[in-house]
Amino acid sequence: MVKIPRYIAGSSAKENWEFDAIVVGSGIAGVIATMRLSREMRVALITKERLVDSNSFYAQGGLAASLGEGDSLELWKSDTIKAGDGLCRESAVKMIEEQTPLIIEELNQMGVPFDLDNEGHFILGREAFHSVRRIIHAGGDQTGKMISQTMVDQLKTGSQATIFEEAFVVDILQDDNGEVAGVSAIIEDNDVMFSAPNVIIATGGSGQLYFYTSNPRVATGDGMAMALRAGATLVDMEFVQFHPTVCFAIQGQSFLVTEAIRGEGAFLLNDKQERFMPRYHEKAELAPRDIVSRACFNEMKLSGSPWVYLDTTKFERGFFQKRFPTVYSQCLKAGFDPTQQPIPVSPGAHYMMGGIETDLSCRTSLKGLYACGEAGSNGMHGANRLASNSIPEALVTGSLGAKSVLEDSRKAGPPERPFKPQYDREPYTRSELRLENWENIGLVREEKKMERHLSKLRQGTLIVPESASLGSLELANMYTVTSIITMSSLERKESRGSHMRTDYQAKDAIWGSLRVHTKAKLDGKHLEIEVGTNKKDGYSWNS
Ligand code: SIN
Repeated sequence: MVKIPRYIAGSSAKENWEFDAIVVGSGIAGVIATMRLSREMRVALITKERLVDSNSFYAQGGLAASLGEGDSLELWKSDTIKAGDGLCRESAVKMIEEQTPLIIEELNQMGVPFDLDNEGHFILGREAFHSVRRIIHAGGDQTGKMISQTMVDQLKTGSQATIFEEAFVVDILQDDNGEVAGVSAIIEDNDVMFSAPNVIIATGGSGQLYFYTSNPRVATGDGMAMALRAGATLVDMEFVQFHPTVCFAIQGQSFLVTEAIRGEGAFLLNDKQERFMPRYHEKAELAPRDIVSRACFNEMKLSGSPWVYLDTTKFERGFFQKRFPTVYSQCLKAGFDPTQQPIPVSPGAHYMMGGIETDLSCRTSLKGLYACGEAGSNGMHGANRLASNSIPEALVTGSLGAKSVLEDSRKAGPPERPFKPQYDREPYTRSELRLENWENIGLVREEKKMERHLSKLRQGTLIVPESASLGSLELANMYTVTSIITMSSLERKESRGSHMRTDYQAKDAIWGSLRVHTKAKLDGKHLEIEVGTNKKDGYSWNS
């Protein structure tokens, strides 16, 4: 059991700002939800840094959609479910994939400059484990940037939403009935309380929990941690996806090397310049992401090298620069030319398949709380997400979250004022925590190491120092999410998808119908985190 505070900071707010709905997070899920809501209600979008500082902005690969010749929804669904390694919720897969074409049409109308051929058809890219070319993109490898920027421009110019940037949401607040009634936040060093009967969490993932990650600085799992503190259930938190090819060649800087490059035929080489993926999987470089990541990790361990290599030198002249301008310019900045020499790459934390548990309409277990995009989990991705399925999922769930808010038309009482937590010491600094997480709950896991990690985490019951800075509040959230991942990983005694245990190396059929849930039980002013497995809990499995 790990103890955490109910609130990570008290509030001395003098003002209480009122809205009908609050959206926390400005990735594409949050932005689309805000755009929808702003047509009908007073909505505030609150984001920790600038509107474009989100994981969505950095997405390179693109957006999967079954639009090509020889493709079908059935085939896309089947690829998604195979990649998810037996844990995908089929109804979620079906719903997201069916609604994707409508969302693409909407993006088109908004003016997202998708890459088209001479006849005006989408140019379809290939990515790992997709049976066919299925990935649409914009600006080559700048898809996330193009979509985010277009949507953010539209939000700013075409909506009535109130936008708060550089604003840190601390906690979700409840009314006397325990239902959602608002949030507490810190804006320009001031405590602020927001009253709202509806809160959508769209804060993205938690890649920053790990020392090696493809995620931007903001991805510290805040939304998941605050939802747990408010009493919502989380699910599948042992399933952290590691992207196989992130470039860490310059210390302190890293950049994603999109999977689409392997889709275009690049090979992975080990330290001896040997191609190794065919030894690990029949689909070689196009095997599911978890398999490619572990293969790279293993080759690095065998050779003692900090990376393997992605060989892009055989591409036709000029192709790399045109198709992957972001990666090309980042490689040049890092001091090498990817058309002349292989790119040094290694795995990094990339995506959280689990999250705040939702039904198919983004409703969580807490009345008035909704979760969309990476912060939520409707079961679509199972144990391992298929490449380029996150943008469709974020856009469809963002849109559905707003629809649910409008349908529910909730009212709430005044929010309670968060009380000040008691303080204790911190067992790890931020960078120590990130390193320990990489070692203990990374690509390969083992009971003894995870138990040791957890007992260290338990040493600090509360981990917010007396003068709570934003950094320490983020760290508090990082501790909470770390504890959840560790406890969930201990609970799942098998290896499946992205969750690999050296002490339970095989996939176990029994676990194929079980999901690990996390809840927090109130004990005075503290909460105790508990994990448990449930069969078909919360919603009807495969419904
Ligand atoms: C990539 O471009 O490799 C990442 C795409 C994704 O995460 O789906």
